[in-house]
Amino acid sequence: MCGIVGYVGDKNAQDFLVSGLKRLEYRGYDSAGIVTLDASGKPTLVKTKGKIIDLEEKLAQNKRDDKIGIGHTRWATHGEPSETNAHPHQVGDIFLVHNGIIENYKELKKALSKYDFKSETDSEVLAALIDSFYEGGKYPLVNAVVQALKLTKGTYGIAVISTKNPEEVVVARAGSPLVIGVGHGETLIASDASALLGHTKQAIYLNDGEVATITKNSVEIKTLNAEPVSAKVEEIETSLAAIQKDGYDHFLLKEIMEQPESLKETLRGRVKIKDGMVMLGGPGLSESELRKIKHLVIVGCGTAYNAGLLASYYIEQFAPEVTVEVVIASEYRYRQAYIPKDSVALIVSQSGETADTLACLREIKKQGIKTIGIVNAIGSTIAREVDGGTYVHVGPEISVASTKAFTSQAVAMIMFGLTIAQAKGVRTNILRPFVNEISKLPEKIREVLDEFNEPVKKLAENYKDYDHAIYLGRDTAYPTAMEGALKLKEISYIDANAYAFGELKHGPLALVDDRFFEFALVPEGELYDKAVSNVQEVLARGGHVIVVTNSKEFDLPVENVIKIKSDIELLAPILMNLIAQLFAYYTALAKGLDVDQPRNLAKSVTVE
Ligand code: M6R
Repeated sequence: MCGIVGYVGDKNAQDFLVSGLKRLEYRGYDSAGIVTLDASGKPTLVKTKGKIIDLEEKLAQNKRDDKIGIGHTRWATHGEPSETNAHPHQVGDIFLVHNGIIENYKELKKALSKYDFKSETDSEVLAALIDSFYEGGKYPLVNAVVQALKLTKGTYGIAVISTKNPEEVVVARAGSPLVIGVGHGETLIASDASALLGHTKQAIYLNDGEVATITKNSVEIKTLNAEPVSAKVEEIETSLAAIQKDGYDHFLLKEIMEQPESLKETLRGRVKIKDGMVMLGGPGLSESELRKIKHLVIVGCGTAYNAGLLASYYIEQFAPEVTVEVVIASEYRYRQAYIPKDSVALIVSQSGETADTLACLREIKKQGIKTIGIVNAIGSTIAREVDGGTYVHVGPEISVASTKAFTSQAVAMIMFGLTIAQAKGVRTNILRPFVNEISKLPEKIREVLDEFNEPVKKLAENYKDYDHAIYLGRDTAYPTAMEGALKLKEISYIDANAYAFGELKHGPLALVDDRFFEFALVPEGELYDKAVSNVQEVLARGGHVIVVTNSKEFDLPVENVIKIKSDIELLAPILMNLIAQLFAYYTALAKGLDVDQPRNLAKSVTVE
């Protein structure tokens, strides 16, 4: 979603702002802009609709050696993507960049009728509000920002500069991340620590309700109630190499191919194969707390939700007397759901910043329920606000389509379920097969990716021109089918929906015709024969069926079959999902689409 960068120091501010915005491109945006101030406060403002490359073209005519500035990539919420609506917004002496949504902007705008608003944005209203308290520099900028924010309802991460004081930047956050990079003779600002890599590894993560006044050599943090906050400087763990393509054409393919290693990182130190046990320290629950768990609520959006649903099918298989409810965060936050006291909530998020998931976390905490994060981004808001957590440690996921996070989230949650089962005294012979397969999974993932990368590439060529796809599965293959359909639709723009095989006859079977193809996941196991019959029913109606199976026996005359040969049985759907990931990638590639940054989408959804 929107990105913020800022700089104050001795170097060229434009250089950092542009390179920082490039690092944030993956988050999704539709316009961009930067403003810098010279030593006298004279501003140079450059904005554009479109991409950073367009901004760079404009900057070529506006090169400055200013030492302070702020920049932004905007993902439109209020008003279309346009140069006027792009940030930074200037009102009077104030320049502001803003992530989030000011909910009461209409009301505030009415009260600020003396201003001539140029854009349709809520952010420009906030800039005007700050200007109204600033009174041309009569008061310190930070005071004006605080007064304005006290009247503001909604979410924000902001960076503000004033032409009257070209030596400081004021930043604040409520619900939208902001990181301050502490360098030597320079201080940097970003909404995502990846923009700071290569400049500094020392970072201060601002908390909600905090405001900071930043100069090249100082960072002074206070709460909105003027209480001083002592800044905690933390080391950024991500390396520069981890956010580069490493020879791949796209981050998406890199991230799919990284899964053997990224899953190994998830498992590191957490699996005791000899004893058939897993050890998850992060949740911080005692044996007796684990034994008491009767109910799990798993909260997530998109892929994180699908991973939760997949894990729930497994947890129910081995954790006795535990019910598992998997919920979509954007719905759950407004439901009047009763959560029994002996529950634990798993809050699942790759970015750790998803607004709806974060809102659920806060609601659930209010009810006194223990929250456990299944998060990737270290130091993210969700990771910091949960009571305990298990980082999945897959490294930065840059492509908008989530892949390696899905695999590790699902496995981490299955491991959490195993932890509960162990505490409840479930016999090792029941749990050991799951633990064994988990430990073998990274190697098996490598084998499947190596074997099927090329064949799936060819397969995708044949299906790229379809407008519709139906993904099918049952039991653990059903959430996997949902994830496959999500991947295909978000990057190839093919209308793809998933159905449980058993639901076909209740409606979706009517869709089967030449405009559709069917992508069916048919794992061996108790329901194999039933799934095969369902495939037959689709074939009988002229379906164009691709089957992914781990059964040697499968012999129906479908258009294409991918047979995974592996001794992974229980977790076979996780391997099948790799085929769906590759298929989505190669279909989008064959259609010539922007694989890493699909239209209309953002990597981290920090607004409702
Ligand atoms: O960062 P999160 O895991 O909270 O993100 C949740 C969803 O926005 C995300 O999984 C989204 O659905 C992906 N684009 C799917 O590939």
